Amino acid sequence: MTYRWDGKNKEDIRQAAEALRHGQLVAFPTETVYGLGANGLDPLSVKAIYEAKGRPSDNPLILHIYDKNQAKALAREVTPLAEKIMDEFWPGPLTLVLPKDICVPDCISGGRDTVAIRMPSNILARTLLRMTRIPIAAPSANLSGKPSATCAEHVWQDFDGRIYGIIDGGVCQVGVESTVLDLTVEPPVILRPGAITAEMFKERLGLEVLQGGAKVGDKEIPKAPGMKYRHYAPKGKVLLAQGQGAELIDDIKEKIAHAQRPLGLMLSSETLADLGEIPQDVTVRDLGSINDLNKWAAELFEVLRYFDQKEMATIIAEGCAYEKIGIAVMNRLTKACGGGEKV
Ligand code: TXA
Ligand code: MG
Repeated sequence: MTYRWDGKNKEDIRQAAEALRHGQLVAFPTETVYGLGANGLDPLSVKAIYEAKGRPSDNPLILHIYDKNQAKALAREVTPLAEKIMDEFWPGPLTLVLPKDICVPDCISGGRDTVAIRMPSNILARTLLRMTRIPIAAPSANLSGKPSATCAEHVWQDFDGRIYGIIDGGVCQVGVESTVLDLTVEPPVILRPGAITAEMFKERLGLEVLQGGAKVGDKEIPKAPGMKYRHYAPKGKVLLAQGQGAELIDDIKEKIAHAQRPLGLMLSSETLADLGEIPQDVTVRDLGSINDLNKWAAELFEVLRYFDQKEMATIIAEGCAYEKIGIAVMNRLTKACGGGEKV
């Protein structure tokens, strides 16, 4: 049996914290996606995460903290630059990769000598972390390969009966996982795009960072180890609509005509308006305006999971601009299509 705790009830969070301290797996909300938490300093608890998710053991985990001083204990070195970044962006949707201290178990970092650390801003996550008083290892709370979970129901679908409990904190605000920034290289590299973008480091700190997965000259900039796996994929085939304007509309019409049913469409309000009549047997999800990328990010995984539940054989998805959080949305969408990375 899996407990379902109410995030509004402090006593429920206390129970969840107690369970974590005793080595159990507890899912909890963060501002990005739900995390599947375990005591990050206990190798047995950490191994249970890999088993529950079916996650490859070479894909390292993020340690979640509530206080900057915890980062100083987990990292061998926190440079003045790292500290400046923490002060500017923590708590929030940013994970920092730092040199690992020996107190961090090897199974957290998949054998690397670095450790990923994040201080979430979600109030429930912060309360839980403070009550637990230990760093909590937490990957996204989805079975390996599936879209991440952005509400308690999603976690329930994947883990009912397989984990000790879930704290229900409603829907996650951001909707895509944190930006992962590697600070062990110079210049720093964004290994996974998220809500905190290269532009923001430049604007707020005057810091140049590279976008991982991109090519600079002949050199391929590395991306997060986890990004090499099949990911975010529903059971059906996801097709990314191509082109812009009239070309985009033609491509979608062409894809609708040939796609295997049941068929789902995830399109912007603007494109839906331009598309005109849609065959009756097609299920449509309106992602909102093309100009509101934050909403796209917030709804992306929910829509993919909705189509999964409806057992869609094909999903036609519209892409968005490669800017701001749109870079993260396109990164997840191209992975959901099973295709190569574009960022
Ligand atoms: O928003 C998030 O980051 C969520 C919430 C729950 O905090 N967590 C999350 O964890 O997305 P996960 O395990 O699904 O993704 C962690 C990513 C993976 O791509 C992994 O490869 C990368 O971070 N990562 C972890 N430790 C690393 C390290 N030491 N060096 C490089 N990449 C690392
Ligand atoms: Mg994940």
